[in-house]
Amino acid sequence: MKVEFYGHVRQYLNIRTEIDANIQRVLMSGKYVLGPMGEQFEKELAAYTGHKYAIGVGNGTDAIWLTLLALGIGPGDEVITHPNTFFATAEAAWVVGATVVFVDCDPQTRCIDPKKIEAAITSKTRAIVPVHLYGQCADMPAIWKIAEKHNLKVIEDNAQGIDGAGDTFKQGDRSAAVTTSFIIQKNLGCFGDGGAIYTNDSAIDARVRKLRSHGSTKRDHHSFGFNSRLDDIQAAILSAKLKHLKDYTSARAKWAARYTAGLKTCRAITLPYAVPGYRHVWHLYAVETKNPAKRDALLAFLNKEGVDAKTHYSIAIHKQEGYPWGKQARIVGAVTEAEKNAASVVTLPMFPELTAEEVDYVIAKVQEWDKSNG
Ligand SMILES: Cc1ncc(COP(=O)(O)O)c(C=O)c1O
Repeated sequence: MKVEFYGHVRQYLNIRTEIDANIQRVLMSGKYVLGPMGEQFEKELAAYTGHKYAIGVGNGTDAIWLTLLALGIGPGDEVITHPNTFFATAEAAWVVGATVVFVDCDPQTRCIDPKKIEAAITSKTRAIVPVHLYGQCADMPAIWKIAEKHNLKVIEDNAQGIDGAGDTFKQGDRSAAVTTSFIIQKNLGCFGDGGAIYTNDSAIDARVRKLRSHGSTKRDHHSFGFNSRLDDIQAAILSAKLKHLKDYTSARAKWAARYTAGLKTCRAITLPYAVPGYRHVWHLYAVETKNPAKRDALLAFLNKEGVDAKTHYSIAIHKQEGYPWGKQARIVGAVTEAEKNAASVVTLPMFPELTAEEVDYVIAKVQEWDKSNG
């Protein structure tokens, strides 16, 4: 049996008529960038996430750095995050010329550890960028408390966590903005690149809207800016898929629960920790080998057996070759948990259109490996 990591074509085929109809509408409108479909999707996204404004941009990386720019964050300013995230989280801060300050992640959730943040704050700190890693919200109440005490902005990197929530909080409740990515494989994915920012701050909305379009909101009138817009064809796909997002999340949660039930007796791996009461959206089902030296063997075994398991992410950002490429960066305290996560993580196939047979096959193969390694 072969179990793929992604189910893009399955998802398309299931809602093909809705996606095709939306794309046709755009094609026949003749307005493909900053047209009515893009505007419609922005309104739908704002309503869905419970924010006043949503702005579609070129991708999830741009969403972060356009927000940093809109907040006036740049050279000389420090941005705190953690190193066991996708590279783009830190890259976005480097794009605007800021200093990236890495602290460790939580030993269980693998999101930023709020207890490590205060030691990293200096007079130059301007923002904290927590990541809702693997689809589970970071400990936002603890992060907001620190941010408010030190007058810092919070930008939630929600590329992996759309539709998620905490127990007592919603994403973005007390943050300057939430950013997300719509790249193909995300929980809400388009057929290429895309991203968005959602916020309740009218100044951020206005600045990002201008920055994403050559510093312009009126024909022939420009100020400093860029070209980073979500096009209307991608918005058409996203608008169709947004109507199914709740069902997609439920399906992911069902497969995650099946993995957890099937793998709970494993002795050589640690299963993902889900914070009680949180709405985890299971962008990734990430296990860790208890012995990091055995990770590559598990990955190779699964791949050989037809299971397209992967790693997210096997090299922490500060361990990438050439780090920090002449950019400004600091590491505060030991980041041993982040390094352990990078060294031991294996991600199993996870998408809504998986079948029970496929999930059970993956479980059987992980169990088989565990029996001779546990
Ligand atoms: C945590 C995180 N941040 C940022 C990004 C960047 O998004 P994009 O690839 O759309 O630029 C991604 C995914 O790609 C991500 O997983």
